Amino acid sequence: MGVEVVIEGLTKSFGKQTIWRDVTLTLPPGEVSVMLGPSGTGKSVFLKSMIGLLKPDRGKCVINGVDVVTCSERKLYDVRKLFGVLFQDGALFGSMNLYDNVAFPLREHTKKSETEIRRIVLEKLEMTGLSGAEKKLPGEISGGMRKRAGLSRALVLDPEIILVDEPDSGLDPVRTTYISQLFLDVNAQIDATFLIVTHNINLARTVPDNLGMLFRKELVMFGPREVLLTSDEPVVKQFLNGRMDGPIGMSEEKDSATMAAEKAMFEAGHHAGGVEDVTGIPEQMQPTPGVPERGGARRRKDRVMRILHTLPPAAQEGIIESLSPEEQRHYGVQPHHGITSQRGQLPTEDVAALPGSGWREPRPVTDTDRVPPPYPQQGRP
Ligand SMILES: Nc1ncnc2c1ncn2[C@@H]1O[C@H](COP(=O)(O)OP(=O)(O)OP(=O)(O)O)[C@@H](O)[C@H]1O
Ligand SMILES: [Mg+2]
Repeated sequence: MGVEVVIEGLTKSFGKQTIWRDVTLTLPPGEVSVMLGPSGTGKSVFLKSMIGLLKPDRGKCVINGVDVVTCSERKLYDVRKLFGVLFQDGALFGSMNLYDNVAFPLREHTKKSETEIRRIVLEKLEMTGLSGAEKKLPGEISGGMRKRAGLSRALVLDPEIILVDEPDSGLDPVRTTYISQLFLDVNAQIDATFLIVTHNINLARTVPDNLGMLFRKELVMFGPREVLLTSDEPVVKQFLNGRMDGPIGMSEEKDSATMAAEKAMFEAGHHAGGVEDVTGIPEQMQPTPGVPERGGARRRKDRVMRILHTLPPAAQEGIIESLSPEEQRHYGVQPHHGITSQRGQLPTEDVAALPGSGWREPRPVTDTDRVPPPYPQQGRP
């Protein structure tokens, strides 16, 4: 099962420039999360901080009981093996063919034989639709193929956490959807915890279980997808609709005078961009038929039902509508009526877990819990 990542009060600056402060969120194990945010808000810096490539000034990022912000180099080296990372530009070695690029982490981090390596590399290349392209150099293939090669390489060590930085940059809309499908299929197959950074609104609306947004040096929100997708926050609405009308400007943030002047201009009829109002909660994409069911999605249902009462009404309604009639009965909820039985009133230990969701009630905290738990940690987000 993928591992939980618990981030608390994380703050990062470069010299006097604060990039973001007090970021607190939990990536639930095996769930897919997406982080949105205007350019320059520090999304890539956030991913790099999670794998210890950049050192935050304060806060924690705890994985399997190890805080990557303060742990030793030795521990960091071990924790990094849990990650598969697809960087913004694919980050392939230009002088190596695709086969050697994908084989690289296996040769570097494992003692596997070349026969074994060959089996794994060919399997991952096939998974990403690159069979037959093994001998090509990165410079000889399209941007989309480089992205997929980067993903193959990110997958070879059977990662438990997969970080993806803008998988859609340089990809056409159809290929972006195919790569989204691939993420969900991989997630279903290996139950890894995903964090995807993207500007792609289609992907953000239809792929993840959880959605968050960075803006003005803070985490505006992070939680079940239904919360952000029904949010009335001006910055969230503007971002989803891609309009000029709102707090986000060409440089990260507009001052109030600029915002007022622009508002007058849009009210006078100037086109604010965007063609339709992007609102509501579209259906979430599912793994390809034949691929196993997503364990993360199943566990998420129990998790979200436990916090349902804490969410805004529109998000609650969206979550209830996404459940099958049996699930609605199981959790004691009804569309348009909200929580109809005691079981839906949360937090409660009475909400029965869906069969097969793997949910276990956490033990009461004891003194031994203060020692970092053994690998892998199973915890409640
Ligand atoms: N190593 C570094 N040293 C100093 N400043 C940096 C460094 N890396 C990033 N920054 C600054 O941090 C800020 C956030 O950068 P980051 O690349 O994380 O943005 P982003 O949200 O990923 O943007 P985009 O959507 O355009 O990729 C920028 O102002 C950038 O100049
Ligand atoms: Mg970036």
